[in-house]
Amino acid sequence: MKAVCIHEHGGIEKLRHEEVDEPELSSPGEVIVQLRAAALNRIDLLNREGVTGIGISLPHILGADGAGVVVDLGQGVTGVKKGDAVCLYPPSSCGRCEFCQTDRDYLCIHLRVLGERMKGTYAEYVKLPAENCFAIPPGISFEEAAALPLVFITAWRMLFTNAALRPGEQVLILGIGGGVATAVLQLAKRTNARIIVTSSSDEKLARAINLGAEHGINYRRCDFAKEVRALTGKRGVDVVVDCVGEESWVKSLAALARGGRLVTCGATTGAYPKTDIRRIFWNHLSIFGSTMGSRHEFRQLLSFFRASGVKPIIDRVFPLKDAAAAQRRLEEGKQFGKIVLQVMN
Ligand SMILES: NC(=O)c1ccc[n+]([C@@H]2O[C@H](COP(=O)([O-])OP(=O)(O)OC[C@H]3O[C@@H](n4cnc5c(N)ncnc54)[C@H](OP(=O)(O)O)[C@@H]3O)[C@@H](O)[C@H]2O)c1
Ligand SMILES: [Zn+2]
Repeated sequence: MKAVCIHEHGGIEKLRHEEVDEPELSSPGEVIVQLRAAALNRIDLLNREGVTGIGISLPHILGADGAGVVVDLGQGVTGVKKGDAVCLYPPSSCGRCEFCQTDRDYLCIHLRVLGERMKGTYAEYVKLPAENCFAIPPGISFEEAAALPLVFITAWRMLFTNAALRPGEQVLILGIGGGVATAVLQLAKRTNARIIVTSSSDEKLARAINLGAEHGINYRRCDFAKEVRALTGKRGVDVVVDCVGEESWVKSLAALARGGRLVTCGATTGAYPKTDIRRIFWNHLSIFGSTMGSRHEFRQLLSFFRASGVKPIIDRVFPLKDAAAAQRRLEEGKQFGKIVLQVMN
């Protein structure tokens, strides 16, 4: 099959579109999916560079997100059948550790994620547990189905499980061009939250306002915390969604109202901000760390897509062989929403 592989860690030049062996079923409960589309995430860049601290066996196929058709079933598979159109829930858990046994599989100490400890989706075929395959909601294309799992499950858990966002609350979303950020915007809008976004690009701010954000702040031109205070009559917002990290952390805390909640799932600009702890206890702030979400939350998310008619925002679709150009666009921060690879028509 054709796949985009890395044989060593490094820059974009390490990506190779080449012929590799197709995956073969090796354990009960597995399936093979013929991929129609894959989607990019920032984690793909970090896995390519080899900077996550997670041991990846080389050569490796990147890609956490995908959608396609089930073409082969291992022993004992129930719930999916050959020919089913599915989107893929990226993490697999061990089912045995204390966290898996208490329905907190996202905390599994043996967690394996597509494109990380498992071969990923920049390929014509992928092998994964059948329980990670979910029916694509009606009206959602393969490209859209590939674009939704990782960022939307992350956004869903952050907004609803962690921050428990309520209608009418004010939310600040940082770096709206990002895949997680646009997913958060789409979900928050559906709960009638009042939304402020930041971006380095006025064009992206305008697009976010078209999608329902009330205000846009260009973080390159001003201190977004001061701007948020001015926009909210000095009160601050109820929830901040920050996957930017070091560059924004202090300002994110300063943008929160008393009793506010900050949710973080990423550290794109670095992991070591300086924090005034007093602001956290004086103002009764809550900080939630989050990674992806549970299968139960993934089912809730897919129900949301079935009921709402919402579709993930796709920035651009590249053919699989042009994965390097696709990653370059992500690396340069040109995207608004998800960059997708079309694997097969
Ligand atoms: N823990 C998890 O489960 C999980 C899941 C998904 C993602 N993540 C992490 O979350 C982060 C975002 O992921 P993603 O896939 O959405 O990434 P992405 O699509 O690559 O988003 C990058 C965006 O971050 C924004 N940004 C960069 N520097 C910024 C700054 N100084 N201030 C404000 N915004 C800034 C930019 O927005 P503008 O273009 O608008 O300026 C950029 O487009 C990454 O660190 C990723 O690893 C974690
Ligand atoms: Zn486990």
